[in-house]
Amino acid sequence: MDIRFEAEAKGDAAAVMAGEGPVLLDAGKALDEKTGGALTKAMAAARYKGGANQVLEVLAPTGVEFSRVLVIGLGNLDRADGLSAERWGGQAARRTITSGTETLALMPDAFNKITVAEAGARAALGARLGAYRFDAYRTKLKPEQKPSLNSVLVALEGAAAARARYEKDAGFVDGVFLARDLVSEPPNVLYPGSFANRLKDLEAHGLAVEVLDIDEMKALGMGALLGVGQGSARDSKLVVMKWNGAKKKSRPIALVGKGVTFDTGGISIKPAAGMDEMKGDMGGAAAVSGAMLALALRKAKANVVGIVGLVENMPDGNAQRPGDIVTSASGQTIEVLNTDAEGRLVLADAVWYAQEKCDAAAIVDLATLTGAIIISLGHEYAGLFSNDDEFAGALQAAGLAEGEPVWRLPLAPGYDKMIDSPNADIKNISGKPAAGSITAAHFIKRFVKEGTPWAHLDIAGTAWKPMPSEDPLSPAWATGWGVRILNRLVAQRYEE
Ligand code: BES
Ligand code: MN
Ligand code: ZN
Repeated sequence: MDIRFEAEAKGDAAAVMAGEGPVLLDAGKALDEKTGGALTKAMAAARYKGGANQVLEVLAPTGVEFSRVLVIGLGNLDRADGLSAERWGGQAARRTITSGTETLALMPDAFNKITVAEAGARAALGARLGAYRFDAYRTKLKPEQKPSLNSVLVALEGAAAARARYEKDAGFVDGVFLARDLVSEPPNVLYPGSFANRLKDLEAHGLAVEVLDIDEMKALGMGALLGVGQGSARDSKLVVMKWNGAKKKSRPIALVGKGVTFDTGGISIKPAAGMDEMKGDMGGAAAVSGAMLALALRKAKANVVGIVGLVENMPDGNAQRPGDIVTSASGQTIEVLNTDAEGRLVLADAVWYAQEKCDAAAIVDLATLTGAIIISLGHEYAGLFSNDDEFAGALQAAGLAEGEPVWRLPLAPGYDKMIDSPNADIKNISGKPAAGSITAAHFIKRFVKEGTPWAHLDIAGTAWKPMPSEDPLSPAWATGWGVRILNRLVAQRYEE
């Protein structure tokens, strides 16, 4: 989609801002005058209140060239922020994408502490996020189901400043789209080898990408990761992406992702209903991949390594059994009591690699790890676990700012004890129906060295969401959750 910033508003449709009341902001007031008060009349007739994301569509008003005018609410103007501007733009794009509109004119205003340049830039980012579709396999779309919108014109005074700000930030949108695409791809198309090939393509953006195969992982002793993939006809891979943007030689921050390209549960097989959603069980790896692309596109001045463990968890004559004891790269032995608690096994070896082979200064891992986190937090917040209060605080702040909020849950010795095994160093489930997300976090923590700041994000509830989506910035099943929080964490904490 073409994005332009200009002084003059032109196009098939226009979007203007309203605050709770409703009150029209300046661009809306001007259009209202030109149309002889059509917007004011329509707002009253529709009981329109200007609530956040609330849309009023006025068709064919006289006195202006637009065939539709969208009044879109920002909610309470004293609380509206940059994300409100993104949602405003996202909602405008969502409402016009298949409407017949080809060019949408966004007419932002300054509000609260947001300048008009920021409002315009953020609205353009939001419009792109809201116009996302995954139509790769839909070959029979009717003309009216196909996107008509191909151009967004942001009309404001000081267009150059808004354009500059947009261009500086826009890389993360491509990162979010990469993550969404990867989560959406069907598991016959996206498996460890094809996932790794897609990541190899990121070298075009200046990332160094290394793909470790089964033999190389065997040589490193990665029995935990390899055990998960041993029942699959698709070979497991570990992919290491490096972005060295810092001038100084400094230890990197490591982003580690769970990349189970399909999770049947293995021999501890899952029920059939809804199993198709387990194509998204590589959402952590997708977020890490998208974040690495975002960092490369904006040439982040930081050293960052992205590590994704790619496996397919299948039942098979050669599959791992409940009761198997595997030896991880760290040397710790693991009793696998449930082959469906596989993500933590993959992360155990990937996290070890981050520390021993990449000398990570800090680690964030992301994983669609537990159904229990959906019981706790639903689809709004991701679960955060950390051994470092400051690091956890930085992630909470980054998440809030980017519309990817996280909620911290506890770690404590009493939970850790629950995964001691009588037969090995550790077992992969507690065997009790209690605190499933916390014991899973403790499992990963056993592979993190004392003194390394580490945070674990359980994104099982946020990597994809029930449809239909009401989120103006996330219209599809796959959300791309994680790209934005990681991108901001690096920007705020690790850049020179
Ligand atoms: N990938 C699943 C977790 C999951 C569930 C993600 C639902 C998204 C939606 C994970 O591998 C898993 O199967 N976890 C088990 C752990 C249990 C066996 C201790 C779970 O949550 O049931
Ligand atoms: Mn599982
Ligand atoms: Zn899984």
